[in-house]
Amino acid sequence: MPTVTFTAHDGSEVTVNGYAGDSVMETAVRNGVPGIVAECGGSLACATCHVFVCPESQDAVDPMAEVEDDMLYGTAVDRQENSRLSCQLKLKDGVDLHVQTPETQV
Ligand code: FES
Repeated sequence: MPTVTFTAHDGSEVTVNGYAGDSVMETAVRNGVPGIVAECGGSLACATCHVFVCPESQDAVDPMAEVEDDMLYGTAVDRQENSRLSCQLKLKDGVDLHVQTPETQV
């Protein structure tokens, strides 16, 4: 069972179990992880599921599609090189992920 570790802006950290095929966003919402709003429910229309992928997880996530890249210009906190929308990050068996949530999503 893959895990996702979320580090908040204040440095607090929570690690939750997830299911392969689910998104990081779904995993956060299901476990009540703060810092992910996900207004659109994962349909790539809100950019309130913004996360920063930590260096150790960079190689574990799939490349982003053009539409996600475009959406990342609408985040509440400016995008960085490691910005992703967590509804587009799929969990895989045997792969644990680590992301940081931004200070705000709205
Ligand atoms: S949940 Fe809306 S874009 Fe990810």
